[in-house]
Amino acid sequence: MSEVVNYQRQGSIGVITVNYPPVNALSHAVRSGLLDALKQGQADADAKALLLVCDGRTFVAGADITEFGKPPQSPGLPEVVAEYENSEKTIVAAIHGTALGGGLELALGCHYRVALESAKVGLPEVKLGLLPGAGGTQRLPRLTGAQKALEMITTGDFASAKDALANGIVDAVEAGDDVKAVGLAYAEKAVADGKGPRRVRDVEDKVASEKGSDIFSQFRAGLEKKARGLFSPFKCVDAVEAAFTLPFDEGMKRERELFMECMESPQRAGLIHSFFSERQVSKVPGLPKDTPVRDINSVGIIGAGTMGGGIAMNFANVGIPVLLLELKQEALDKGLAIIRRNYENSAKKGRITQAQVEERMALIKPTLAYEDFSDVDLVIEAVFENMGVKKEIFGTLDKICKQGAVLASNTSTLDIDEIASATTRPEDVVGMHFFSPANVMKLLENVCGSKTSNEVKATVMAIGKRIKKVSVLVGNCYGFVGNRMLHQRGAEAIKLVNEGASPQQVDKVLTDLGFPMGQFAMSDLAGIDVGYRIREERRKAGEDIPASWMDKLAEQGRLGQKTQAGTYLYEEGSRKPVVDPAVDELIAEFRKEQGITPREITDQEILERCMYVMINEGAKILEEGIAARALDIDIVWIYGYGFPAYRGGPMFWADQVGIESIYNTVRKFHDTLGGDQWKPSSLLERLAGEGKTFGSL
Ligand code: 3HC
Repeated sequence: MSEVVNYQRQGSIGVITVNYPPVNALSHAVRSGLLDALKQGQADADAKALLLVCDGRTFVAGADITEFGKPPQSPGLPEVVAEYENSEKTIVAAIHGTALGGGLELALGCHYRVALESAKVGLPEVKLGLLPGAGGTQRLPRLTGAQKALEMITTGDFASAKDALANGIVDAVEAGDDVKAVGLAYAEKAVADGKGPRRVRDVEDKVASEKGSDIFSQFRAGLEKKARGLFSPFKCVDAVEAAFTLPFDEGMKRERELFMECMESPQRAGLIHSFFSERQVSKVPGLPKDTPVRDINSVGIIGAGTMGGGIAMNFANVGIPVLLLELKQEALDKGLAIIRRNYENSAKKGRITQAQVEERMALIKPTLAYEDFSDVDLVIEAVFENMGVKKEIFGTLDKICKQGAVLASNTSTLDIDEIASATTRPEDVVGMHFFSPANVMKLLENVCGSKTSNEVKATVMAIGKRIKKVSVLVGNCYGFVGNRMLHQRGAEAIKLVNEGASPQQVDKVLTDLGFPMGQFAMSDLAGIDVGYRIREERRKAGEDIPASWMDKLAEQGRLGQKTQAGTYLYEEGSRKPVVDPAVDELIAEFRKEQGITPREITDQEILERCMYVMINEGAKILEEGIAARALDIDIVWIYGYGFPAYRGGPMFWADQVGIESIYNTVRKFHDTLGGDQWKPSSLLERLAGEGKTFGSL
């Protein structure tokens, strides 16, 4: 008997139980076990019908992703599903938790499906760069029709049990949480009612009535925008279309061919790297799993501006009360009004109810007095980037906050150790760097100072999870992981324009790579004054930051979207960048002043300079231990800066491009362009020499 799939009879029903924690993924052992258990069920003369059910937290959540990219082992999943579908004994699948991907495909191979009310079903393969490869594209549309199947398969979104019932994906939905009892009752009734096997492959009415419909071309046209740059969503449409143009067995063959095309695509590798990395970042090397975590039941936030307000919303959204502090009533009122407006907008879009708007607003209490923070468990300071101001605030917090409170700064660049030095408890001080808009962006870069205690590190990682962020723990240095790399890219982008590229050419290279926006459109969004102020501060500190045409923009008050003019122009109420000839003139003038003769710059040079400077910096970040693993950097960039997940993050992308070639180009730029940013990282040099990758570290 397989250890992971068990067969036992209960009364007249043969029960096949999968028990393969954590999510009952369809590993080789599970697939083999499923076939063995089916054989036993068939041979058991006293079993009038069979029930497929899972132990643990969920029904089968899909194929075993860890097996992808390895040589396939028989039996394959399509074969297992076919054996279940072809069974002469009726098989009922009872679903709890999530029936996803291969899990739903297995359930679709069963003859009837009953789900708990709390269950969800979906075919999320597209999120991994794949398509459902065990009959999902052929069976689902036979139950739902083309439109619903296309939506589910191209978005990967889950359907609730109720929605699944309404669309024919499941046959019944039951209350309660005893999935086995629900399944047994359904199977016993099926026997009593004389319900024989009903095979989805033979359900033809929907495919027949929608044959020849133009829904597929329409759907493809819609995807051009929604799935820009992606490979598998289009293959999903091809596969679903095959269900409407080919007999079932040929449709299955077509699905397999398309599945293999996706499997071999680099996007599949990138997306699966992203999937596992997103989960790996919470397991911090050197931070023991059993590190105690402090209870966080109340939060104080300093600053009700865009950042502070967005941060407050994260906590209110999960029911944690917030005290929001400003020094002036007017600023407090303004901040609260913006938070309310954001919530009202979500309610208008139907994402939350009006009652939830009020509940969440009631959790955010305004205050003008630091003394009110005496009992909070966590404070997050979110005022503007000025070390003097921050130190003063932390000095005050040190006097007021109770012992054991976590004292966090939302600084995006500044030295956490220096901030901590303003307190008598540097072990409680930490960075919690949210990304703007903080109520939307998924990344939380938690920054450890040299004295931050393990308990505080574990606490900020845990609270990040509670407020539904993807949290990455990083070390302390200027700009930490994300902004340190971004600053290098930004400086290089500005220089490329100094030398002859146009801002829109630079931006296009980046959007062609898959970024949602280019460097300059991003500066317009963030505000050109932000970078300008940082450059000015660094100049004051004696750093050699060359003059640039962007400084001129800032000095002219062209601060980006907020002034409707930055590197681009913006029409009233629009976020669409429009090229402005006045900026071309300003750049031309700047070049003249600096004695630069502009030259033709290729897209390849832009790509190499913008990206390799980041990779080189990323390698230095690894070398210095600021990031523990290359995958931490990848996740920072995917969730904080919109790096295309299908390219797996910058360090994964670098591995695909080739470390040796990147190293050689970095060296060439060091020789020709000079500058510390091009000094090859010794890690990059070593990896190139040894023929290794960042992923191998
Ligand atoms: N294969 C292997 N491991 C998986 C897995 C899978 N399909 N799904 C989840 N896991 C692992 C995770 O990596 C994690 O491992 P860890 O504890 O070592 O980090 C563990 O299971 C728990 O996962 P989560 O932390 O994500 O747990 P949640 O409870 O938050 O979420 C879930 C559970 C909703 C099932 C979520 O894990 C998920 O969305 N999984 C992926 C589902 C999926 O994409 N299925 C389709 C697979 S492709 C396929 O089926 C191809 C077929 O058509 C041929």
